[in-house]
Amino acid sequence: MEERRSANGGAHKMGHSRIISGKTEIYALFGDPVSHSLSPIIYNSAFEHEKMDKVYIVFKVGKDDIKLAVDMARTFSIKGFNLTMPLKEEILQYLDELSPEAELIGAVNCVKNGGGKLTGYNTDSSGFGLSLLSKSGKYPSAVFIFGAGGVSKAVAAHLAMNKVGKIYITNRNQGRALSLADKLCCFKQTQVEILPWESSKWGNALSESDAIVNCTSLGMNNKGDLAALVPWQHIKKDALIYDTVYEPLETTFLKKASELNFDTVRGTSLLINQAAAAFNIWTGREAPVEVMKKSVEEYLNATCRI
Ligand SMILES: NC(=O)c1ccc[n+]([C@@H]2O[C@H](COP(=O)([O-])OP(=O)(O)OC[C@H]3O[C@@H](n4cnc5c(N)ncnc54)[C@H](OP(=O)(O)O)[C@@H]3O)[C@@H](O)[C@H]2O)c1
Repeated sequence: MEERRSANGGAHKMGHSRIISGKTEIYALFGDPVSHSLSPIIYNSAFEHEKMDKVYIVFKVGKDDIKLAVDMARTFSIKGFNLTMPLKEEILQYLDELSPEAELIGAVNCVKNGGGKLTGYNTDSSGFGLSLLSKSGKYPSAVFIFGAGGVSKAVAAHLAMNKVGKIYITNRNQGRALSLADKLCCFKQTQVEILPWESSKWGNALSESDAIVNCTSLGMNNKGDLAALVPWQHIKKDALIYDTVYEPLETTFLKKASELNFDTVRGTSLLINQAAAAFNIWTGREAPVEVMKKSVEEYLNATCRI
């Protein structure tokens, strides 16, 4: 297949045979901003690879237009859609049903349209589980989480629902961490401990943790440096260091972890696995995870976003 670089540096495949017809099923992303989203690359590569007559497109939708977007999805039979900022919580009032994870987290990033009945899921949560299991094969006993925002809620909820014994959470805004701990208090097999945002208080918890997950936006687009805050000497040699930030592909947090010989997981793993979980919900089929991963890494390389 011929490949051409566009004026803005994007790579476009030329001359391929995919036909969008009147029968093609539509899937979508709603949110704002969406123009830099990697979701169309990920899903369309999967649909094409699986020879499915489906296409994924993005719509710029703000909070004021969400009702219109949901009505459109119902009226024009959009089979499934994703939500990104600022709609993941706003969407709840328009749905008919929620998955247990979405209900617990109070946020939805994936909706299935079953003949007009809309069911909401949180695939950041289930995708984190897929990503962790594909790396380690089992759940860790204790996890240390930096951050208490949307992605942290999804990660912590998945760990608690899967009976991980201990979760440490530290966040700059401690109130946000406390309200996350409140949400998880019904999981009697999981003990949640909130730590202040002071690295001198993290040593014991880090030394007990099998996985350490960055759920803050520190490191995104090279802004902020979590690596400089972490007291690395306390971390177990075989702990897994996981970053949810995926731009750049290798954050300073992961670079430092690799230099110290820790096993690492990049944010693209969550990105791909949350999409794989949505693909499975929408189509009932296993997602071609390797194809999705290759497409997104090639795109990031071609557009110089890494
Ligand atoms: N790989 C994926 O598929 C995927 C999916 C979703 C999100 N993400 C990444 O996850 C990150 C967080 O997303 P989100 O949706 O959870 O955002 P969010 O709800 O806005 O939460 C942001 C988090 O980062 C913390 N934070 C921001 N700036 C900070 C700073 N200067 N110092 C310390 N903490 C800081 C916030 O702490 P406060 O509460 O104190 O403000 C909060 O815990 C983003 O970088 C995003 O790219 C990745």
